[in-house]
Amino acid sequence: MYQEINFEKIDLHKKPPTEEPARQYYFMAKCRQWVDAFEQKKGRLPGACVVNMGCQMNAKDSEKLKGILETVGFVLQDSEDTDFVIYNTCTVRENANNKVYGRLGTLQSIKKKNPDMMIALCGCMMQEPEVVAKIKQSYRHVDLIFGTHNLFKFAELLAQCFASKQMVIDVWEETDQIVEELPIDRKYAFKSGVNIMFGCNNFCSYCIVPYVRGRERSRKPQDILREIEALVADGVVEIMLLGQNVNSYGKNLDVPVTFARLLEEVEKIDGLERIRFMTSHPKDLSDELIAVMAKSKKICRHLHLPLQSGSSRILKKMNRHYDKEQYLSLVERIRAAVPDIAITTDIIVGFPGETEEDFLETMDVVEKVRYDSAFTFIYSKRTGTPAADMEDQIPEDVIKDRFDRLLERVQKIGTEKSKEIERTVQEVLVEEINAQDASLVSGRLSNNSVVHFPGDASMIGKLVRVSLTECKGFYYLGEVAG
Ligand code: SAH
Ligand code: SF4
Ligand code: F3S
Repeated sequence: MYQEINFEKIDLHKKPPTEEPARQYYFMAKCRQWVDAFEQKKGRLPGACVVNMGCQMNAKDSEKLKGILETVGFVLQDSEDTDFVIYNTCTVRENANNKVYGRLGTLQSIKKKNPDMMIALCGCMMQEPEVVAKIKQSYRHVDLIFGTHNLFKFAELLAQCFASKQMVIDVWEETDQIVEELPIDRKYAFKSGVNIMFGCNNFCSYCIVPYVRGRERSRKPQDILREIEALVADGVVEIMLLGQNVNSYGKNLDVPVTFARLLEEVEKIDGLERIRFMTSHPKDLSDELIAVMAKSKKICRHLHLPLQSGSSRILKKMNRHYDKEQYLSLVERIRAAVPDIAITTDIIVGFPGETEEDFLETMDVVEKVRYDSAFTFIYSKRTGTPAADMEDQIPEDVIKDRFDRLLERVQKIGTEKSKEIERTVQEVLVEEINAQDASLVSGRLSNNSVVHFPGDASMIGKLVRVSLTECKGFYYLGEVAG
């Protein structure tokens, strides 16, 4: 776990060390010199804005970027009208990319007013060579570009950027390196994501993640457990174990460990109250894991189990390695072992070749499983993935029609499901003061539903028993149980 860095001990007259993380500490010290000079010149510390555009894994990476920026002396802020702006990008769907180009245009006008401003881009989109080429050509106001594999080098790249007038670009194709012990700025004091693995080996035929995040690499269980223990000592009560496919955790370690075994070890950590994880691939979800979930006191009653499609024919083309029947039987086994579990999912509509019959199979799974909620996506063609070259791409109007029908059912069922626990008493982890009404606090149930109830700031980070007085569809209103 990261310890405070003693910058006094770092001699910048010497060459940078070659080993990590010492090398990054050296460059953090260098960046601090730059910040000091900035402060002398402008009479204030430089501001920095980190914008996260992707999934939970990207959000975790953004916390690492923030940790480094704060350590070197930047003042973090939400406004992009500042001295250093970094976009941590996502490329899972085309519209994620378009958003970045749009916002880069806006930044250009801000930079015109403040020519010393620095703009950096990192994350999944930067792993695509065409993207980097386009930025080099048309977005000359960008100062720094790096990818997902060398994020740990952020301090070094920042130092390079301070010393150069040219655009600094450093994108790696691959890595097997996992650098521990870097600073991190957590968004919440009481809950935290914890990476257990990086990358993905599944190559679902529509998905770009394996190309931009590289091969699957698991962290050692001791590193994960040490990190969680330190988080708990620092006040964290809920953790979310993160990976693209947590169920295949540990397979590539020198001493292989299963995800279920890891969970059992995490469960033993005193002071930790809640364990979540994301994401579970149905093909690797073992009976061992179901048994561990059933007897656990800490694992939350929520499982995100992406379906993608209910048609076995499409699932095969998607390279998902399960069929409709296997998925349904998995859900049955999970529900039998953990009756009160909330099951949520991801569904893609309009995968190449999807017929009305295929779509009705998806609707059938939705009816049978009755998801507590579902993220529904319109298929987005990602260049370089096998699905992009498949014939029979579906026309937009057909997709839109199916999408609307799916969304309507998913929402209706979700609302009906949430009614089931109305008027029960449940434990809520209080997260924040309600943004609309300061007399309320907002928090989450074990099943991940949101609850608002009268309370105050002293409750934040605490588990409170709350009576769910009214179900409002996707959230509840409640009051502290007497
Ligand atoms: N590793 C996770 C998913 C990561 S991406 C898993 O396997 O479940 C999150 C979701 O984005 C996916 O579940 C999928 O539903 C959606 N997605 C991925 N690629 C997509 C594409 N090309 N078009 C539309 N949705 C996509
Ligand atoms: Fe993408 Fe499939 Fe890997 Fe999930 S498991 S990240 S959908 S390739
Ligand atoms: Fe997007 Fe990368 Fe996550 S592509 S979904 S930010 S792994």
